[in-house]
Amino acid sequence: MKIMILGGSGFVGSHLARRLSRDGHAISVVTRHPNGARHLAIVPRVQIRHFDPYDVDRLDAELADHDALINLVGILNESGRDGAGFRRAHIELVEIAIKACNAAGVTRMIQMSALNAGQGISHYLLTRGEGEQRVRDSGLDWTIFRPSTIFGPDDSFLDRFAGLLAISPVLPLARADAKFAPVYVGDVVEAFARALEDRASHGQTYELCGAETLTLRQVVEWVAHQRNMRRLVIALPDALGRVQGKVFDFVPGKPFSSDNFKSLLLDSVCNGNGFDSLGIEPWGMREKATEWLNHTGHGRQARYQRFRERFGRSGGRA
Ligand SMILES: NC(=O)c1ccc[n+]([C@@H]2O[C@H](COP(=O)([O-])OP(=O)(O)OC[C@H]3O[C@@H](n4cnc5c(N)ncnc54)[C@H](OP(=O)(O)O)[C@@H]3O)[C@@H](O)[C@H]2O)c1
Repeated sequence: MKIMILGGSGFVGSHLARRLSRDGHAISVVTRHPNGARHLAIVPRVQIRHFDPYDVDRLDAELADHDALINLVGILNESGRDGAGFRRAHIELVEIAIKACNAAGVTRMIQMSALNAGQGISHYLLTRGEGEQRVRDSGLDWTIFRPSTIFGPDDSFLDRFAGLLAISPVLPLARADAKFAPVYVGDVVEAFARALEDRASHGQTYELCGAETLTLRQVVEWVAHQRNMRRLVIALPDALGRVQGKVFDFVPGKPFSSDNFKSLLLDSVCNGNGFDSLGIEPWGMREKATEWLNHTGHGRQARYQRFRERFGRSGGRA
């Protein structure tokens, strides 16, 4: 199959492109940035397409010879605060993608969404729900995935907490008792790969949860433990958590936001796990993430350390 991935340069997209390449598919990864997907350039059968997916005419033309479109575009924070950024990423782009599929004669679409889409009060979840509805109304052969928080090497979940813990002995945590069923990125991309091959997935919405449910506090404390860091995690009452979100709304890069706080008011756990229907046994977070998390350092440094260890140059662990 020839498959176009919108948002394919990111964390999930990079794993997905590699996974689908191994199945022999030809993949077009769309990125808005010239160097956005450079790390995928060496993957067999992967082509990087540098253009803005909001450019309707360009997307129509680029999609012409493909068999399927996967939309992974999503944001956790917008630059403003009125929801317009979320609407643009989660609804307008979905509309553009559906139009492009119709123009190009592509009938298969897989949409990445999130658990609790359409519920609660956050712009993130509400726009996710509207985006899903556009897909359901599209007349295409669609599949929607709703994962809990996704973890994997270089994710923005465990890696982010590891980074925060490294710079502060105390971590004030909003919604510390919110529950998650963190899902391994390898299991998520396996679900996409199977859905592409399985007509029974057409018209289905799959919730995806890992094998283990944890509170946010448990996740953070476990990360600290893996990194041998003694840290104090302070659960903020909601009134303070709300204030934390409002303050961080104005911090460049928004490490946390009012909208994140609102999303956390709902537990990120499944009603029925879509992995069962797809014949996949998902990993639990603590069982899987020890593979990379208990190495000191993270990101590029950790990869270099793993390389050194593998080739016996770590000075201790051959
Ligand atoms: N990671 C998780 O824990 C998690 C959990 C549930 C759902 N999801 C959803 O899964 C999808 C993939 O997540 P991820 O962690 O891989 O995200 P990511 O690393 O941030 O990648 C998303 C990609 O989308 C593109 N993008 C971002 N904003 C865009 C915009 N406004 N317009 C067009 N393109 C845009 C970017 O590509 P370029 O900059 O190269 O164009 C980016 O590489 C997202 O929809 C996310 O909401 C993720």
